[in-house]
Amino acid sequence: MKFGTFDDNRKEYVINTPKTPYPWINYLGNEQFFGLISNTAGGYTFYRDARLRRLTRYRYNNIPLDTGGRYYYLYDNGDFWTPGWMPVKRDLDFYECRHGLGYTSITGERNGISVTQLAFVPMGYNAEVHRLVVKNTGSVEKSVKLFSFAEFCLWNAQDDMTNFQRNLSTGEVEVKDSVIYHKTEYRERRNHYAFYSVNRPLDGFDTDRESFLGMYNGLDAPQVVANGEASNSVASGWSPIGSHALNLTLAPGEEQSLIFVLGYIENEEEDKWEALNVINKKPALAMIEQFATDEQVDAALATLAAHWDGLLSKYQIQSGDDKLNRMVNIWNPYQCMVTFNMSRSASYFESGIGRGMGFRDSNQDLLGFVHQIPERARERILDIAATQFEDGSAYHQYQPLTKKGNNEVGTGFNDDPLWLILGTAAYIKETGDVSILDEQVSFDSNPDNTATLFQHLKVSFEHVTNNLGPHGLPLIGRADWNDCLNLNCFSKEPGESFQTTANIEGRVAESVFIAGLFVFVGPDYARICRMRGQDALATDAEAKIEDMRQTTLTHGFDGDWFLRAYDHYGEKIGSKENEEGQIFIEPQGICVMAGIGVEGGQAEKSMTSVQERLDTKYGIVLQQPPYSKYYLNLGEISTYPPGYKENAGIFCHNNPWIMIAETVLGHGDRAFEIYSKIAPAYLEDISDLHRTEPYVYSQMIAGKDAVRHGEAKNSWLTGTAAWNYVAITQAILGIQPDFDGLKVDPCIPAEWDSFEITRVFRGDTYVIQIKNPNHVSKGVASLTLDGAAVESNIIAPVLDGGVHQVVVELG
Ligand code: GLC
Ligand code: GLC
Repeated sequence: MKFGTFDDNRKEYVINTPKTPYPWINYLGNEQFFGLISNTAGGYTFYRDARLRRLTRYRYNNIPLDTGGRYYYLYDNGDFWTPGWMPVKRDLDFYECRHGLGYTSITGERNGISVTQLAFVPMGYNAEVHRLVVKNTGSVEKSVKLFSFAEFCLWNAQDDMTNFQRNLSTGEVEVKDSVIYHKTEYRERRNHYAFYSVNRPLDGFDTDRESFLGMYNGLDAPQVVANGEASNSVASGWSPIGSHALNLTLAPGEEQSLIFVLGYIENEEEDKWEALNVINKKPALAMIEQFATDEQVDAALATLAAHWDGLLSKYQIQSGDDKLNRMVNIWNPYQCMVTFNMSRSASYFESGIGRGMGFRDSNQDLLGFVHQIPERARERILDIAATQFEDGSAYHQYQPLTKKGNNEVGTGFNDDPLWLILGTAAYIKETGDVSILDEQVSFDSNPDNTATLFQHLKVSFEHVTNNLGPHGLPLIGRADWNDCLNLNCFSKEPGESFQTTANIEGRVAESVFIAGLFVFVGPDYARICRMRGQDALATDAEAKIEDMRQTTLTHGFDGDWFLRAYDHYGEKIGSKENEEGQIFIEPQGICVMAGIGVEGGQAEKSMTSVQERLDTKYGIVLQQPPYSKYYLNLGEISTYPPGYKENAGIFCHNNPWIMIAETVLGHGDRAFEIYSKIAPAYLEDISDLHRTEPYVYSQMIAGKDAVRHGEAKNSWLTGTAAWNYVAITQAILGIQPDFDGLKVDPCIPAEWDSFEITRVFRGDTYVIQIKNPNHVSKGVASLTLDGAAVESNIIAPVLDGGVHQVVVELG
């Protein structure tokens, strides 16, 4: 069942009922100021850090689920309602929500009044702009009232939800003209305040929540709105809110627009005040002036659209498959940019107060946005690398505001260092900018201890070879990619963190996954060494990679598939010999991606085993059979009920590894089959089962052992976005940035006839036509660049900033 449709021309998803199976959200903001907004106008807004600079309150896991947001109540002669349906839930004659790139527009209509509520964050602007268009669609004049509503968070979202003994006495506001200022703690150490304005004179206002709602009412029935009369309350302690009251008289057919701005101001210490306890409003007024008219709003929307067009234009496909087109051209790269902006901080499944930026996650996210914003990818690589230690190990997370490693989580995830090589190599392949390797980067954020980024890559590589276990495979440490396979944890304490507790200082447990990752990224490291004239280092690295390949085949293969690991006792995990957890997806994907066992047939066997044992109609599950009980020697993976999360859920993050692995073997039909099983646009028709947004990936879909097989959770902020983007754009459609140029090597369903890709690469635009007259899956028979034959399937960068025609024939 569907709850909306894609509008590809406008790059929007159009939701036609407020009663989606779960709140379907969108993100506003591209730089410093951000908002999350659902299809019923729920959500919140923050400046830079969702924990420390939260402007508006949001109660996670609320009842009803998505209550709290930017609400505009329409009072019409005793009746009142909200255009997004929530929170009043009054029946609407018409409802529509359009989620576009960086903006959301919600329209509701009732009794001859239509209200369209548009929200976006203009480029270079630290505020949400809301434009309300109220229209009289009936045949008689109407006098209505509009009440806005935003509830202020007292800045630190964590403290705001816990420290009531203090916080219920600190709230302060000022109201001047049509602007409500939220200034809690500004009197002391904060130099920032929030403001909420509207571009016309007020007929009243409220800033005290209880006065607005009434002690025993919820947001569905505020007393002020029900009475149609603002109380002009001024908050003092308790819970400050912002509500403007506006009387509108509309002739039949008339529409009026109102522009609200909800923004953030920082003042220098010496400029904080206008007079005693009167805040300096000048910068706020300057911001408000920028959005006084509809023309200003329209111009900012056009700038925003141009921004997104620019980002998306780097890779565009034209194929006969609308679903493929909209995933590749719009929604997947959009989600990749959101993961760049948010990392794992704020979504409807991440509370904005939890995790910092993951070393592993951030490097992988980079694969999905490096072509869109190479300069910012560069900066991110350097930030991440600075949290590494001299021995190559790394803080598993770092804090975005301080850019320092997170001590609470610490180090010891032994796959982490390798992802830095992957991320850096992706950046160099995309841009050709090798100068990044010469940048001086700290160890452990210590400016007095620095080395070149190249040296960081060297210690990353060596961290693996310096930490091998009894079989010569890499030691796993606290965990590898699978955060929940905790082989040294042995936790018996309720609530103890599986990731940060190591009750056993083991140097026995080994990871076949890290071995595969080493062989996968190692050649890029060796190549980088050669690019720097370090031939001896490169040769040595190549020998170590070859050793690891052999060791993986000798000790990491179980007959029909790759093993997962050896545990603390040296026992196999992910083996036929196990009762549960006999086969895992991760080593099958990464080892075959690395080319291990391609010659000897192990790779083929591995892929066959995945298909036979892990595949389902909704995607490939992480392992089988699921763990039915808690295993002390395995950790968190065995804490989840079967079919959820790492315990045999469909982890959408590593399904693309199997897609890529299948393309290594030339299985284009199978690769695309897996792609379309989990790509959200293909799941639109089963939205009632899938539940999360049909325009973005979720981290996990419940596996076949779960009660709710096919149901997704944790949408938006997941490495799934980047890896699926790599799988489809590079492995399947075959446009691969490489050190020497743009490589074209598709691996597609044999029945495809042709498709065209426009790819901007190192400043040139390549229009690449791929023809498949002989209906093969893989293999480039000929390639021409601007009419001239090219011997290989790598296009050397032309570097003239022009448009170049490439024709590729498969065969
Ligand atoms: C989550 C984590 C990621 C981890 C994965 C598997 O997506 O963010 O770092 O690799 O789970 O445990
Ligand atoms: C990953 C896993 C999750 C685990 C978390 C711990 O996100 O998916 O299950 O709790 O890592 O960091």
